[in-house]
Amino acid sequence: MRLFIAIELAETIKHSLTEMQAYLDRHGVRGNFTRGENLHLTLAFIGEYSDPERVLAVMASVPFEAFPIRLDGFGNFGDLYWIGIEESQALSSYVKRLRRALAEEDIPFDRKKFSPHITLIRRAYFDRHIGMPGVRVKSAEMTVERVSLFRSDRGKSGMIYTELGYTASEK
Ligand code: 2AM
Repeated sequence: MRLFIAIELAETIKHSLTEMQAYLDRHGVRGNFTRGENLHLTLAFIGEYSDPERVLAVMASVPFEAFPIRLDGFGNFGDLYWIGIEESQALSSYVKRLRRALAEEDIPFDRKKFSPHITLIRRAYFDRHIGMPGVRVKSAEMTVERVSLFRSDRGKSGMIYTELGYTASEK
């Protein structure tokens, strides 16, 4: 099964993100918009791996205390457009510890540098005479109280992400 570790987003954040998607749509941007229920912040992409219980055990072994995150910045990786997360020492040091623990247990994951983002749209295209509209990020914040392990399956009308378990804040 295909697995990844991510933060499920609060409704306040999802609301800001879906408003920005609607803005892009109104300005003629087309492509594969991430559905509201699929919006999340990935911390580690594991990919094909058959033992989710082992991943959950590693997640449980990494100390985790609640911390805030805030939306900040709009950018792209090619034709994938995202909203970023404001620089956060708590987030980056948690992800560092989590990834180190996965590596120590020989659980595979994508080693690309952690670049916190929430994908709004994949395979975006737009009228090149008009260009991609500038997006003013709708400020939104949440407290991260848990980190989840998701399974990803291809459904008839897009990806289906199912939470298999989570690690919750100790405080
Ligand atoms: P993306 O939004 O930038 O595509 C499920 O696929 C989640 O894992 C998505 O949030 C995706 O990020 C992320 N991810 C990170 N690395 C990935 C990879 N190598 N292949 C597929 N998804 C990856």
